Amino acid sequence: MANLPRVVILTGAGISAESGLKTFRDSNGLWENHKIEDVATPEAFAGNPDLVYGFYNDRRAQLQLPNVKPNRAHEALASLESVFGNNVLLVTQNVDNLHERAGSKNIIHMHGKLLSSRCINSGRSHTWHSKFDASTPCPCCTPASAMRPDIVWFGEMPMYMDNIILALTKADIFLSIGTSGQVYPAAGFVQVAKDSGARTVELNLQPSDKCALFDESYLGRASMIVPQFIHSLIDEYALTQQNSLL
Ligand code: APR
Repeated sequence: MANLPRVVILTGAGISAESGLKTFRDSNGLWENHKIEDVATPEAFAGNPDLVYGFYNDRRAQLQLPNVKPNRAHEALASLESVFGNNVLLVTQNVDNLHERAGSKNIIHMHGKLLSSRCINSGRSHTWHSKFDASTPCPCCTPASAMRPDIVWFGEMPMYMDNIILALTKADIFLSIGTSGQVYPAAGFVQVAKDSGARTVELNLQPSDKCALFDESYLGRASMIVPQFIHSLIDEYALTQQNSLL
């Protein structure tokens, strides 16, 4: 298709809710049952590492349960990439692997990954599917070092920010899906895209904290509204292509 738009998509926990993974801030969300400062900060890891390892070991195990699978929203985003190719960049705050399992390839995990460990000594990440704790040796150092969850905690800098900001400044379309807009820097992405002239679209169960900054808003469950929107976007550009051939 000619003149494909550059699309940057930000996803949050809401896109994985219908796949069986809890969000953070909805009722019965993860932060209702755990205090952020007990499990998701460098200070928590220093003060009570067993609690922090346990929290992420449980979430890693849950992600690998047979009933946890990508849903139609993840699949729709993968199908957009299969049509628009590298013009699509998916930036996710999610630490699950449901986008990859649905087929997305051009993806940035700005908050890290559950199925990964990080060596405390070398800083290297290692694909890791099982439990680990302070006594589990890293595979990269001699003598072996301890590893931490490969997660960006509160107070730490999200990953790949330079790449993300560059893509936002070049985007024609910015989609925000299933995120409450409460956590920076991701909550500020809509403003960056808007200032660069992008069409900004929110797809969420309810209006996010940043809803006023979006040109368009679609409310509902991700598995319903995301496929609808993505198919209309693909149709829109197929039509542009047909018209440009007339
Ligand atoms: N479909 C669409 N949206 C949904 C659905 C659904 N089925 N279910 C819930 N939502 C929406 C909620 O309305 C809410 O606005 O998803 C959003 C989830 O918000 P949060 O729980 O705050 O999750 P998120 O925005 O991803 O959190 C950002 O905070 O704690 C940190 O690091 C963690 O990456 C996370 C970051």
